[in-house]
Amino acid sequence: MTDLIDKFSRPVRYVRISVTDRCDFRCVYCMSEEMTFLPRDQVLSLEELYQVARAFTELGVEKVRLTGGEPLVRKGIDELVAQIGSLPGLKDFAMTTNGAGLRRHAQALHGGGMTRLNVSLDSLDPERFKRLTRTGDLEKVIDGIHAAQDAGFDKIKLNAVVLRGRNDDEVLDLVAFARDEKLDISFIEEMPLGDVSDHSRGETFYSSDEVQARIESRYPLMPSPETTLGPSRYFRMADSDCRVGFISPHSHNFCSTCNRVRVTVEGRLLLCLGNEHSVDLRETLRRYPGQLQPLKEQIVAAMDLKPERHHFSTDGDVQVVRFMNMTGG
Ligand code: GTP
Ligand code: 5AD
Ligand code: SF4
Repeated sequence: MTDLIDKFSRPVRYVRISVTDRCDFRCVYCMSEEMTFLPRDQVLSLEELYQVARAFTELGVEKVRLTGGEPLVRKGIDELVAQIGSLPGLKDFAMTTNGAGLRRHAQALHGGGMTRLNVSLDSLDPERFKRLTRTGDLEKVIDGIHAAQDAGFDKIKLNAVVLRGRNDDEVLDLVAFARDEKLDISFIEEMPLGDVSDHSRGETFYSSDEVQARIESRYPLMPSPETTLGPSRYFRMADSDCRVGFISPHSHNFCSTCNRVRVTVEGRLLLCLGNEHSVDLRETLRRYPGQLQPLKEQIVAAMDLKPERHHFSTDGDVQVVRFMNMTGG
């Protein structure tokens, strides 16, 4: 049972921990082209990241997801995964990755106790993939997915952010790919974090209902009650084990059932992706090194700051100045 309950009676069971703001890609909806990254002393050390995960699991959190930037570019990530993976009380240990580093890391992640992977994949066309990620190599990502399957990951989910005029015509191809590869897939509405400069979010907004209509033109979908404790609404197809999910922060707000908080790599405990309410865990970690109690007390007290909901709109304005790579999604 979790000790973390917010003012709106929502139990918090899921923490997303960002292990780096760096990434080897520059996805157009996540970063600007000229991104600068944090100096090293502002970033939590591996030991500090471990202490954060420990504090949360001791408080009853059962799901930990490591995010970035790109978590696999953090030096020492395999060791951190093995440490967190052996924490008692952890039921679901996952990572969201761009997939490019999986050939190198998948075995260590699986061996370290990680149970699930989410891999971002917005296009199956190599040229377009390059345009959307600016630096990414599609072949490497697909090879990374295969490496993860070979390493024993059987619960891999693809994440596709759908942008009007950029990749909305690939929805059916992405579902067909997921079916062939025996993967789940979630389609995501873009969120207005950071001035990404590549496009106006008002122009590229593409709703989950439009995605769903495209999919149902070929594969009828049946609602599925399953949940990963995440924001996805899942559906099943009659002739496949793959699930299709929709993450619809704009069109189907899911804040009333929010069960998660996030920690940025600077050690800010952010109570909501779409708001700036936060407390500084880094200060506490560095003032009381090796002591878990002050950290746990600070986390429990912070639950009162969790806001009821985000107020994202699709009019194209940036509503949160913080870029997505600082937050890990
Ligand atoms: P599962 O454990 O597989 O359910 O994953 P997840 O959906 O919780 O995590 P993932 O990292 O794959 O995130 C997918 C998308 O959901 C990203 O675009 C995240 O930004 C978004 N997301 C996750 N949690 C929240 C949230 O609390 N609010 C909003 N607005 N978006 C969220
Ligand atoms: N809106 C929605 N999803 C985003 N992601 C990154 N930036 C955005 C955004 N602005 C997704 C990535 C990754 C997950 C962590 O968040 O595609 O799958
Ligand atoms: Fe990197 Fe992920 Fe952001 Fe793409 S969405 S630039 S892969 S952190």
